[in-house]
Amino acid sequence: MTTKEEIERRRTFAIISHPDAGKTTLTEKFLLYGGAINLAGSVKGKATARHAVSDWMEIEKERGISVTSSVLQFEYDGFCINILDTPGHQDFSEDTYRTLMAADSAVMVIDASKGVEPQTRKLFKVCGMRGIPIFTFINKLDRDARDTLDLLDEIEKELGIETVPMNWPIGSGKNFKGIYEREERDIVTYTDTEKGTKEGEEHRIDYADTAAVKAAIGEDFYAKMEEDIELIDMAGASFDLDMVRAGKLTPVFFGSALTNFGVEIFLKHFLKMTTTPLPRKSGDSMIDPLSDDFSAFVFKIQANMNKAHRDRIAFMRICSGKFEADKEVKHVQGKRTMRLLQPQQLMADERKILDTAYGGDIIGVFDPGLFSIGDTVCTPGKDICFEGIPTFAPEHFARVRQVDTMKRKQFVKGVDQIAKEGAIQIFRELGSGMEEIIVGVVGVLQFEVLKYRLQNEYNVEIRLEPLPYEFIRWIENKNEVDVAHLTGTSDMKKIEDLKGNPLLIWVNEWSIGMTLERNPGLKLSEFGKDW
Ligand code: G4P
Repeated sequence: MTTKEEIERRRTFAIISHPDAGKTTLTEKFLLYGGAINLAGSVKGKATARHAVSDWMEIEKERGISVTSSVLQFEYDGFCINILDTPGHQDFSEDTYRTLMAADSAVMVIDASKGVEPQTRKLFKVCGMRGIPIFTFINKLDRDARDTLDLLDEIEKELGIETVPMNWPIGSGKNFKGIYEREERDIVTYTDTEKGTKEGEEHRIDYADTAAVKAAIGEDFYAKMEEDIELIDMAGASFDLDMVRAGKLTPVFFGSALTNFGVEIFLKHFLKMTTTPLPRKSGDSMIDPLSDDFSAFVFKIQANMNKAHRDRIAFMRICSGKFEADKEVKHVQGKRTMRLLQPQQLMADERKILDTAYGGDIIGVFDPGLFSIGDTVCTPGKDICFEGIPTFAPEHFARVRQVDTMKRKQFVKGVDQIAKEGAIQIFRELGSGMEEIIVGVVGVLQFEVLKYRLQNEYNVEIRLEPLPYEFIRWIENKNEVDVAHLTGTSDMKKIEDLKGNPLLIWVNEWSIGMTLERNPGLKLSEFGKDW
């Protein structure tokens, strides 16, 4: 196969959901169809997914590298599929957001009894910012579900994206009969496939065969289905692939990942609609993913917690061309040519050394401390420098103090290094020195990580004093406003990052609107960029 053919068959996506909506289960079922695993349940043990904070360090040490960093690759129907895991639960952190920067599309899993939940909303925002296609799988139809129209309405209102149901559930819970496939005009009846085998057969019945449909779902459900079909055909948005590709319309599917119903149907539709690796912006030009020249960017850096093999792994998304382990590449920001060391693919908790990889793939490489998040590597001689990755809004803040003031140097070095890896963000009160720093994190577990790593790697003990702030905004037009004289609310604090960018933090969300009202012309952003 040529490089171009290899890249064209790649599909790289992330699955986003609120914890417990069924992301892991759905991923397992995808792998089952791809033949990557024989038994469901092996993607990641529930025990690791649900561990308590106190266990975390031990687990991290044992497994050497975070299981949550994995990218799952499998083949299905001629496609080479990369699923990027977005860590949830206690592992939720800025990395979860950064992972989305490496995906070309996202699958949003929603629990049919719950609808849109907070973490879905947060992850969706990042996908929305990038304008990548989003496909919705409404899961757990084998349990009592909320009204279908209500669910669609909620997605539209809460997330600001139009929906187009590609299929439609017939009943739910004990009365779940199956789905109606709109394009094919078929009914697919539900068979409980006993937790996860792919043996359960899907029975398709032509909807035009009224007698057969009635026999399969009963008179009452048939009558309801007739009404529903009329309603969605008349009132709903029509399918428009361009709108889907622009992230403005989400195709919606229904099913039950646990009992393996509707999963393959979803996968097939999804693969037809989702994109090949997308071009990426470098300066004023777009880099063609199908070009022969290799290019990639670092979207995540994972420090190893295990002292026994102390290393960092830089995760790169290949944007174009073919990666060959024995060829030199240019690290653009480091202004040097080098060979990428120990290129590997992380499948669940296994590492596999790679010789080649293609546009769309994710590789992890050994990083002796050279890379920063957002860095570009490419074929030497090529003038490529991808746009940086934005900084995402931390939601937890704490003042950090070192216990032993004599260790100032190690403290500053450690905090600085950990911030460079992107695990934490550091701020100080506007106009104050480095004496007291404020640390911001997306996931509260990162505080523990900071404490543990400073103690273990830099021999510095710290005390964290939690602060009540939860909302942060970057000042987009910082050169146009007089930050020192902004009139805020009583729960607002002015801070700055290490580059001197001013930011505002608040305890209450409504204060953000109030601050905007009091300071006409002020432009705030939820994402930090180099403005
Ligand atoms: P997550 O990765 O999004 O956090 O969710 P995960 O797949 O771990 O699923 C969370 C729980 O929901 C699991 O149950 C899982 O079995 C269940 N689940 C997932 N999909 C479906 C579905 O389609 N129908 C039903 N009824 N349940 C579903 P658990 O009891 O917490 O774990 P387990 O003991 O079953 O593994």
